[in-house]
Amino acid sequence: MDAISVIRTKRDRGRLDDGQIDWVIDAYTRGEVADEQMSALAMAILLNGMDRAEIARWTAAMIASGERMDFSGLARPTADKHSTGGVGDKITLPLAPLVAACGAAVPQLSGRGLGHTGGTLDKLESVPGWRASLGNDEMLAVLADVGAVVCAAGDGLAPADKKLYALRDVTGTVESIPLIASSIMSKKIAEGTGALVLDVKVGSGAFMKTLQDARELAATMVGLGTDHQVRTVALLTDMSTPLGLTAGNALEVRESVEVLAGGGPADVVELTLALAREMLDAAGLPDADPAKALADGSAMDAWRRMIRAQGGDPDAALPVARERHVVAVPASGVLTALDAYGVGVAAWRLGAGRARKEDAVQAGAGIELHAKPGDTVVAGAPLLTLHTDTPEKFEGALEALEGAFTVGPAGTPFTPPPVVLDRVG
Ligand code: URA
Repeated sequence: MDAISVIRTKRDRGRLDDGQIDWVIDAYTRGEVADEQMSALAMAILLNGMDRAEIARWTAAMIASGERMDFSGLARPTADKHSTGGVGDKITLPLAPLVAACGAAVPQLSGRGLGHTGGTLDKLESVPGWRASLGNDEMLAVLADVGAVVCAAGDGLAPADKKLYALRDVTGTVESIPLIASSIMSKKIAEGTGALVLDVKVGSGAFMKTLQDARELAATMVGLGTDHQVRTVALLTDMSTPLGLTAGNALEVRESVEVLAGGGPADVVELTLALAREMLDAAGLPDADPAKALADGSAMDAWRRMIRAQGGDPDAALPVARERHVVAVPASGVLTALDAYGVGVAAWRLGAGRARKEDAVQAGAGIELHAKPGDTVVAGAPLLTLHTDTPEKFEGALEALEGAFTVGPAGTPFTPPPVVLDRVG
C-alpha cells in the first residue's frame, strides 16, 4: 500500500476500501505518511465526500490508533455532552456539575479554543489554581468522587485525530461533514462514555451554517455512536447570536456561576436544562430533576467540589481585564441582529482566543452583551463592553464588529429563533 494510490482513489471520486483506510490512518499516526500527503487526502475527502461505510471505517481506525478508557467500574452510569463549538458556549461549565448532582457520572474531555470559538479548558483555567491536565488515574478518581470531571484528553486517546485535526486546521479542511463527524466521534467513543448528547450548533457562529448541513452532521454522528453501542442523541441549537451575555474566558465562568446560583440568562438556562434532561434520559435516569438541582443548590455544591478537586479555588476572585471600551447603541429601536461570528472574532482579537496553538489567552478578555436580539434599545446606551489587557487590540475588535448588529425602527416585529431547533436520535 502507498499513500499516493490512496490519494488518487479519493481524488478520482472512488471509494476507499477498508484496507486503504486502516493502512493510511495507521501509517499517518506512525509518521510513515507525511503531513503533505495526508493534507492532500483530507482535501480530496472534503471535495468528494465519503459514504457511511467509509466514515464508519475511518472512525474505527482512528479509535484503534490509541487507547480506550473504561468507566465500567464506576457505580454511576456515564453521560457526556459534546458541542460542535460556538460563541459564548459556556454550557459545559454549569451542565457537568448539574448532571453529576442528578446521579450520573460526567467524564467531560474538553478542548481549547482555536479561531473564533472558545474552549472549555481556557475558560476554566481562568479560575485561580485550576488544572486541566490530569493523568488517567486522577481523572477516574475525580469522576468517582465528585461525579464530574472536565479535563484535557490524554495523548493516548485517538492520536490519529490529534495529528489530523491540527493538520486540517491549517489546510482549510476542517469543514467536511465526514471529517468532523469521525473526528468528534472517535474521541468520544474512545473515551468510553455510555451515553452521549451532541449539541450541534447552527448559524453564523458555527461550523454548520444551515439546518440541512447540521442535520446531516448530527445523523452521521448519531449513527456512529449507535454502531459503537453508545446511546447517542443530538440537539440542533441556534448559534446565529452568542449564547448568554458574555463571550470570553473569565466572563463566561462568572455567567456560569450565576446559572448555578439559580440566575443567569434565560437562553443559557434553557439549553443547560434541555441538554441535562437528554443526558439523564440517555443514562437511564429519566426521573432525575435538573431544574430542582439548580434551584436547591446541589448543582452549585457539585461545581465547588469539581473545581476544588482539580486544584481550583471556587471562592477566588476571577481575573478582570485592565482596559474596557463601550460600544453604544447607534439608534433607538429594536435590536434585530447581533451576529455570533462577528462577536466571536472580536472576542478572539481582544485576546480571549488564540491564533496559533502555542499562543496564550487572556483570562479577562472578551465581550459583554447588554442586549439580545428582540430587545428594545435606546440610542447612546451601552450595547457591548469590550475587555482586554492590551488596548491596541480594540481597533481590530471594532473592525470585526462592523455590520455585526442591526437596529430596526421601534415596533419592528422580531421573534428570536428557538434555542433548540431540532432533535436527531
Ligand atoms: N471538533 C472536533 O473535535 N473535530 C472537528 O473536526 C471539528 C470540531
